[in-house]
Amino acid sequence: MRTPEEPALRAGEPAGVRTAVVLDAPVLRAEPDGAYTRLVLRAPAAAASARPGQFAACSTGDSGMLLRRSFSIAAADAGAGTLEVVVAAAGAGTARIARLRAGDRLPVVAPLGRPFVLPPAGEGVVLVGGGYGSAPLAWLGRALRGRDGAVDLVVGAGDERRLLAHDVATAASGAPDAPVDRVHVATEDGSAGARGRVTDLLGPVLAAHGARHVLACGPMAMLRAVHDVATAAGAATQLATEESMACGVGVCMTCVLPVVGDDGRTRMLRACTDGPVFAGDRLRWDAIGAPSPQRPAGVGARVPVDAVGAPAATPAPVPGGGDAVPPGATAGQER
Ligand SMILES: Cc1cc2nc3c(=O)[nH]c(=O)nc-3n(C[C@H](O)[C@H](O)[C@H](O)COP(=O)(O)OP(=O)(O)OC[C@H]3O[C@@H](n4cnc5c(N)ncnc54)[C@H](O)[C@@H]3O)c2cc1C
Ligand code: FES
Repeated sequence: MRTPEEPALRAGEPAGVRTAVVLDAPVLRAEPDGAYTRLVLRAPAAAASARPGQFAACSTGDSGMLLRRSFSIAAADAGAGTLEVVVAAAGAGTARIARLRAGDRLPVVAPLGRPFVLPPAGEGVVLVGGGYGSAPLAWLGRALRGRDGAVDLVVGAGDERRLLAHDVATAASGAPDAPVDRVHVATEDGSAGARGRVTDLLGPVLAAHGARHVLACGPMAMLRAVHDVATAAGAATQLATEESMACGVGVCMTCVLPVVGDDGRTRMLRACTDGPVFAGDRLRWDAIGAPSPQRPAGVGARVPVDAVGAPAATPAPVPGGGDAVPPGATAGQER
């Protein structure tokens, strides 16, 4: 279920790629956070416009790995001029970035992509994150506080080390300025919180508190499961997708996902510029992660047959002016 008030952007808000800046950012702090490294970067121009759900594309510093690696912006402090990212050493590029220390520099393009849209004030919201996918959720929770609706945070990981300890501790502090009202933790091995997955907790949390909005960030399989549970409970989802990226700025079409537009037609949209946040009910889950001759199962998305030849949609005017469009309403964003 999706309400008309839930475009990918607020009216008039530009897509992230239009406000992104290129920076050679000094690393102010590099701190271990469970299995991850949290980097605090000096990046005033990016911090001034960054919003939860957007990401930063970071250079590896190795000329043999030219493509930038994408990280959700975990926090931005416009006053301090800082951006934070949380890095999991998944492969060679992220391992290099995770080894950075205070005083090093990290070339960054940020903020990129479209952020979460804050649901209407007064309505309950559940934030869901898996592993490093929880990175932006404390920041998002803070943006939702004071809107007169309860905010629950459901976080999960394989084990305690892969929970984002910093965010869980901050969120659970109970202090008046804590970013959320309630925190629910699950680990698959039971080393922290309930044994199980975030989806095991999400259904009961939605049933107990009646929230109508679920905002989630994590691996695609988790997002799909979250969307299914939320939909069954009558809640709308906004999902910060994590699709493989190459350029990160809308040029190469590596990151495309099948998304249903307002006209009912499916188009392959770029997660890096049209997303990464999409309304869950617009994603063609039947084609995402489906096996194809080009890709193994679980990786990327195939082009649904009915998406072939879909006309590029003209961006619809948005009440309030500006050129913002809802997710799936257009394939024709600026490149
Ligand atoms: C929007 C977004 C937000 C992300 N947020 C975070 C985060 O907060 N913290 C974090 O640790 N990781 C995050 N990731 C995943 C991270 O970008 C990948 O783990 C990383 O690119 C892998 O690079 P590598 O060199 O270590 O691995 P390799 O497998 O060697 O990468 C090879 C190439 O594939 C691309 N690639 C491989 N896996 C991914 C992936 N999962 N997503 C995108 N591109 C991929 C890389 O960009 C690179 O060009 C995010 C990805 C996206 C798309
Ligand atoms: S990563 Fe190149 S278009 Fe999205």
